[in-house]
Amino acid sequence: MKVLIVGSGGREHAIAVSVAKSPKVDKIYCAPGNAGIASVAECVDIKAMELEKLADFAKENNIDLTIVGMDDPLVAGIVDVFEERGLRVFGPRKNAAIIEGSKVFSKNLMKKYNIPTAAYETFDNPEAAAEYLEKCSYPIVLKADGLALGKGVLICNDHDEAAKGIKTIMQDKQFGSAGDRIVIEEFLTGREVSVLCYCDGKTIKPMTSAQDHKRAKDNDEGLNTGGMGTFSPSPFYDDEAREFCEKYVFQPTIDAMAEEGREFKGILFVGLILTESGPKVLEYNARFGDPEAQVVLPRMKTDIIDVVEACIDGRLDETELEFEDNAAVCVILASDGYPEKYEKGKVISGLEKFDGKDDYYVFHSGTAEKDGNIVTNGGRVLGVTAKGGTLKEARKKAYEATEWIGFENKYMRNDIGKAINEVE
Ligand code: AMP
Ligand code: GLY
Repeated sequence: MKVLIVGSGGREHAIAVSVAKSPKVDKIYCAPGNAGIASVAECVDIKAMELEKLADFAKENNIDLTIVGMDDPLVAGIVDVFEERGLRVFGPRKNAAIIEGSKVFSKNLMKKYNIPTAAYETFDNPEAAAEYLEKCSYPIVLKADGLALGKGVLICNDHDEAAKGIKTIMQDKQFGSAGDRIVIEEFLTGREVSVLCYCDGKTIKPMTSAQDHKRAKDNDEGLNTGGMGTFSPSPFYDDEAREFCEKYVFQPTIDAMAEEGREFKGILFVGLILTESGPKVLEYNARFGDPEAQVVLPRMKTDIIDVVEACIDGRLDETELEFEDNAAVCVILASDGYPEKYEKGKVISGLEKFDGKDDYYVFHSGTAEKDGNIVTNGGRVLGVTAKGGTLKEARKKAYEATEWIGFENKYMRNDIGKAINEVE
């Protein structure tokens, strides 16, 4: 069969590598893809938001299945566009992708269906929001309602910071119309865990857990980024937390969506925080995480095509989901300066050292081909993943492999997965 993947990051590279393992697949396309994805898929020069053009391409090339990696096209309704044209596609429709596209929607859903989350209020008027700040205890969290490249969440330590935050989001419109409404919520403390789940509208099957590292610098300092590294599984997500989430979070969420007439098919990514009073939902995403996919998918034993097709056809309950009994760590190699200003176009060396090594992967995020070289072309450049029998071993191998790669201004965090030392 012919598969099209929509997106251009490390996540889409991990999806492509997983899809390539399936004996059912003869040909993979990726739109727009990147220089690394080009080694497993034919990259197509159509942007992820050119929905009609993507559907034209899928029709003209008899694509059997399209897997959407990115949030923007899902929230914009790519699944509806494909379905209207009779094309098979994996992801939630627009009316379900709103679970990621609007934080006001997702918070109200959780409240209505008693799904554990931080206490909150929503506002569409900056004066009312500012007035509310007078009665808050600090810190508090401000969230722009819409998509903001992971940057629309501000943790405010005092009233002045929060007042500035409201101005930035609602009046200066730093995130555009994503800031027309905001959520103001209680600040929670605990370890974060990402659980990505396959859904067919009725059945939800969680994958193995992962933990991201969102801040740019060691010890969780610096600005928020798209994610600087991950490990899987999370040893902090123990049986008790898992059973709690299966009972009170995962199934209730897709049941709630079905009840609202918003059947959820695709990947539901549940961002959780393990607080002293139990797990709570920080956010939902309607797609694989980046860089969560880079540690979860290499550990998945089940053929991804079988699971995806079962989701589309509504028979996920019949599908066994199996993961290797091991661990994986992904360290992101970024351009120094990310997530602010950074340079591009630096030649990358050492990529060939990963060839033929089963436990090691180098997933491309921001790379391009130029004059026969692979060069840096983004803030997050590569994700180096290694698998090992334990998290400690995977971590050691991943950091060793980061040394195989060279480029000017290479930057990484040195403490990805360090927290596992507390438990292993
Ligand atoms: P979100 O995009 O909603 O996941 O938020 C991005 C990051 O902000 C999360 O991964 C957390 O680190 C942090 N965050 C979000 N909401 C809260 C909260 N209520 N309490 C503490 N930290 C939060
Ligand atoms: N790593 C977080 C995300 O994909 O949103």
